[in-house]
Amino acid sequence: MTRVLIAGSGAREHALAWGCTRHPGVELVCAPGNGGTAAIAENVPVAADDVPGILRLATERAVDLVVIGPDAAIAAGLADGCAERGIAVFGPTRAAGRVESSKEFTKQLADATGIPTAGWRAGGVEDREALHRFAAELGACVVKADGLALGKGVTVCDDATQASAAIDACLLEGRFGDAGARVVVEERMSGREVSVFALSDGAAVRVLAAACDYKRIHDGDRGPNTGGMGAYAPPAGLDPAALLDDALRRFVEPCVAALRERGTPYRGCLYAGLMLTDSGPRLLEFNARLGDPETQAVLPLLDEDLLDLLTACARGGLAPGVARTLPGAAVGVVAAAAGYPGAVRGGDAISGLDRLDPGALLFHAGTRRDAGGTVRTAGGRVLTVVGRGDTLAAARSAAYANLERVRFDGMQHRSDIADPTGAQVAAAPGLLSR
Ligand code: AMP
Ligand code: GLY
Repeated sequence: MTRVLIAGSGAREHALAWGCTRHPGVELVCAPGNGGTAAIAENVPVAADDVPGILRLATERAVDLVVIGPDAAIAAGLADGCAERGIAVFGPTRAAGRVESSKEFTKQLADATGIPTAGWRAGGVEDREALHRFAAELGACVVKADGLALGKGVTVCDDATQASAAIDACLLEGRFGDAGARVVVEERMSGREVSVFALSDGAAVRVLAAACDYKRIHDGDRGPNTGGMGAYAPPAGLDPAALLDDALRRFVEPCVAALRERGTPYRGCLYAGLMLTDSGPRLLEFNARLGDPETQAVLPLLDEDLLDLLTACARGGLAPGVARTLPGAAVGVVAAAAGYPGAVRGGDAISGLDRLDPGALLFHAGTRRDAGGTVRTAGGRVLTVVGRGDTLAAARSAAYANLERVRFDGMQHRSDIADPTGAQVAAAPGLLSR
């Protein structure tokens, strides 16, 4: 019997839990979990970033492995706490997690290791004028709050006026609090974006897969940014083997090697956000965790034992290379509550969850089961429905055919996830096109 504690409450964590149940003899605890994990795990109401609470739970239940889902738990030091107590943990320490929690740290690391990325400059309030001048030299540029800003810290600017306003919002107006006390100003690049997910035990690197996500709330990439409204894998119009090999050699391995040399080995999932520019792939960002909703599309295609991989990351002995995946594609579409990404209402009954095809997958996020067993909304992103198929088109049809059976008041979803005419599917220019 293997006991696993999964920290988090999103559809990513439900997908991780589902993946772990495919390993024989697993007992799962989710903290806090959601209405979906309740069916395959014991949910315990402890927040993922409540480090003392999670450590107490892990000790009480004598778990063999703690799996960290969200960045907040990494930044709170959950992996450090586990390591101090000798509990095996999938997820980086706070020091290794700086690849996500400080954009300046990542830009320095990229330059030091030759990872291709946009030209940049960073500074605080004392460097404000130099940053304004740098933005003026660049013209079109991107201004980023250095720290974690709930995905809202990046402003893509057309000109120096917009850039100056974005710099001042961070440095003078404190828009992102401490996270914006330093900013990174960088060259604005263009091209298709892909996310690459790699696992590491601190030394070896194994690439899981690549995926594309849809960040804006409305079709056609309009409206405000969200946590992610859908994703598909593998990226269309590219040679997947070339993309994964390139990501491994030029982006992930140099980062993992540098963190190891600095005495802060990286154990967990390293997520490389890449832009496929005319002159080749460039790093946009690293994240210190799996992506949501990309995980919901990636794990159903994994042809290896997920729990064995997570355990190898935590304990060492991960086999390097590229993970085996199933043929075909997976498309995940997120259903969100009315008002999302703003304030949302909870408590609406969700119907149709029992009407999905056997081949479709349902991953809950903001849901809970009430005393009568009815599943109700309890958050912004409510669930992800995943369709699989031999082709991207078949996976997309399966996802939407099943999503249409699910209903709740005010449900919103994008109708263009994996649409062949969309920017995330249309062939990328230059390198790696097939
Ligand atoms: P990040 O959190 O750093 O990945 O930035 C969020 C989003 O901003 C990315 O997914 C891109 O769409 C955009 N972005 C970030 N950096 C750049 C850049 N240098 N050039 C163009 N777009 C960017
Ligand atoms: N899907 C983007 C993220 O997880 O950050």
